[in-house]
Amino acid sequence: MRHATVLGALLLLAAGTAHAADPVAGERAFAVCRSCHAIGPGAQNGIGPAQNGLVGRKAGTYPGYAYSAANRASGLTWDEATLRDYIRDPKGVVPGTKMMFAGLKDDRRIADLIAFLALFDAQGNRAAP
Ligand code: HEC
Repeated sequence: MRHATVLGALLLLAAGTAHAADPVAGERAFAVCRSCHAIGPGAQNGIGPAQNGLVGRKAGTYPGYAYSAANRASGLTWDEATLRDYIRDPKGVVPGTKMMFAGLKDDRRIADLIAFLALFDAQGNRAAP
């Protein structure tokens, strides 16, 4: 009886760990985005727009960045589900985008990445961690 309870608790713990998105792992995953995207205090637009305040923002609205017409006309808002699809397949979600990136295929990595992006407000302030 006692063993069964302990085992149940361990299984729950394992399941919780397996599904929680990890922003620290997401920061490592962001390395592939950094060649084109800056984030954090003082982030500047580069080949791609700076990513501060991305989660919840309307597509094509980062100040001072020259987006493609396809991105501006997409009508998307970068909520979690939309970001997940876009990071997996940018051209599939925004045909004609000028983001030259094939996409990531690993769901876990994508979830971690979004958790990392969500740490930054529009001014580039980073929430813990
Ligand atoms: C080779 C350069 C490059 C890489 C690598 C890249 N991007 Fe982009 N990204 C762009 C460009 C260019 C745009 C602008 C797209 C447009 O205007 O059509 C963009 C746009 C975006 C947008 C839309 C932003 C907005 O304000 O509408 C998101 C979200 C995004 N990228 C996320 C990512 C993430 C996450 C990664 C890493 C997994 C990544 N990008 C990797 C070049 C890149």
